[in-house]
Amino acid sequence: MDEPRLKLAIQKSGRLTDPSLDLLTRCGLKISRGKDQLMAFGENMPLDVLFVRDDDIPDLVQEDVCDLGLVGLNVLEEKRHELAARGHPVRFEALRTLDFGRCRLSLAVPEGQPFDGRRSLEGKRIATTYPYLLEHYLRERSIAADIVTLSGAVEIAPRLGRADLICDLVSTGSTLQANHLREVETVLESHAVLIRTPVTLPPLKNEWVERLLMRIEGVQQVRESKYIMLHAPRSALEEIRRLLPGSESPTIIPLEGFPDRVAVHAVCRENVFWETLERLKQAGASALLVLPVEKMLS
Ligand code: PRP
Ligand code: ZN
Repeated sequence: MDEPRLKLAIQKSGRLTDPSLDLLTRCGLKISRGKDQLMAFGENMPLDVLFVRDDDIPDLVQEDVCDLGLVGLNVLEEKRHELAARGHPVRFEALRTLDFGRCRLSLAVPEGQPFDGRRSLEGKRIATTYPYLLEHYLRERSIAADIVTLSGAVEIAPRLGRADLICDLVSTGSTLQANHLREVETVLESHAVLIRTPVTLPPLKNEWVERLLMRIEGVQQVRESKYIMLHAPRSALEEIRRLLPGSESPTIIPLEGFPDRVAVHAVCRENVFWETLERLKQAGASALLVLPVEKMLS
């Protein structure tokens, strides 16, 4: 019998597409995808990638059309509130927070318009593509405002006279700037999330979900990690240990012919900046070397 294949949904084109594919590549997946094809075949893993609209990902996973999905917390939370409002259960399961796709859902007003918290929201029209999240935000603060639900191009609604302000995703802020809008309040901080189907998977599929999770963990750990090597006087070891960012137990190696000096090797789980290297040198370190970490498994 053929091995059952996992189906993973990712955003077809948008802010999450490239980082999602990059993550999968770093997890060792090789895919072949014809131009404009909506599904890519995993050549070296029983895992296929589906390219879909991000807003469809929670439903596809919840309804078990796909086993896994990579999607923004903004989309997930909007779906969660929509399901709650309709009295439906939430059935997708969040497996991991991912270290990309950071953005925020924010309120923004036309430049030059003053903003004074809830008083500036009361009785106003707010345009958004996130009506359920916005409704929840307003309700929690007992603010009575009109939600103008649009399917896109939210940022031009104030200029068209369709709304007084907007509630939209902000990443770099350039869309707001180009439309003369000013961000005034954050409704939700977002990042990418890996979700899975509520359905119990057959053992072989489950095994691959576990393996993928472990690889994702490894990829996320090494992104910031560095391997650092240096020589140091034994007397400075304590201070040097303190200066090494996010390293647990460095390896200390004696140096042939130099009884007072040792070599120190350590994995730093944070980036090592020039300032740190300068401080290490001041503490007596020499022959400093910082290397990227490719893979990690603990
Ligand atoms: C969002 C939002 C803005 C833009 C903001 O759309 O609607 O248009 O990104 O990004 P910036 O601050 O970097 O300019 P997105 O690309 O997520 O598309 P979607 O909402 O249609 O999925
Ligand atoms: Zn979208």
